[in-house]
Amino acid sequence: MTEWSRVKTKDGSFTLKSFKYNECYHSSEGAVVESLYKHIYPAFKVAEKNDYFGGEIVILDICFGLGYNSFLSVLKRPEGVKLKIISPELDLNLIKSLKNFDYPSEFNSIKHIINKVSENLYYKDENVTIDVQIKDAREFIKSLKKVDIIYQDAFSPKVNKELWTKGYFEDIKKIINPKGVLTTYSVATPVRCALYKLGFNLYTHPYENIRKGTIASLSELDFERVDFEEKLKRIECYTY
Ligand SMILES: C[S@@+](CC[C@H](N)C(=O)[O-])C[C@H]1O[C@@H](n2cnc3c(N)ncnc32)[C@H](O)[C@@H]1O
Repeated sequence: MTEWSRVKTKDGSFTLKSFKYNECYHSSEGAVVESLYKHIYPAFKVAEKNDYFGGEIVILDICFGLGYNSFLSVLKRPEGVKLKIISPELDLNLIKSLKNFDYPSEFNSIKHIINKVSENLYYKDENVTIDVQIKDAREFIKSLKKVDIIYQDAFSPKVNKELWTKGYFEDIKKIINPKGVLTTYSVATPVRCALYKLGFNLYTHPYENIRKGTIASLSELDFERVDFEEKLKRIECYTY
């Protein structure tokens, strides 16, 4: 049974459209552009400010999907820094298919990593570990200790609500490094409300070439702050 169709995004990179969720895995603005500007660049800036968390950054990639966030993190890995990437994903068939996926040519240098992850759900060398677990993210995160960066990149709350509830973010709060960062494409009020109520500071990325998302941290960051207190004078704070 066909589960996806291939879609070309505006930056030339391909994504998929899921028939089950009736959504694309990435914004039409570009799979690469979205991954870099909404997730990796802001998150790595925070990591840099924190001396790369002692030289090894633990990244939780929610969820693996086509692996753009994980693979581009590897391609943008700061010199001398180790990456430990852990990622839950429900769809084993998707992961198995990734070795044949038409990634942009800049991924050619990590083709051996893509193949290993696709075949074994695991890759390790001296600088990079990628560990994909075929598990429900909600349960998986309860087994984790401390993570520095979280790419919150599930499908939209409309179709993937379980990964955007206040209860889910409560579990996220238990494992995120107090100096760490969560990045997401979502600007939805209930998502921001949940994070805000849990004590996260909310920011947006500085890039003009792409729609805003949300950057959340328990610490103060150097990004433009989302003035949520002001917004709460006008709206009710509700969560999923
Ligand atoms: C928008 S895609 C992720 C895109 C991915 N970050 C990338 O860069 O290619 C969302 C993924 O979440 C997975 N998913 C949805 N609900 C899940 C759950 N409860 N636990 C684990 N994975 C889930 C879907 O199978 C899908 O692959």
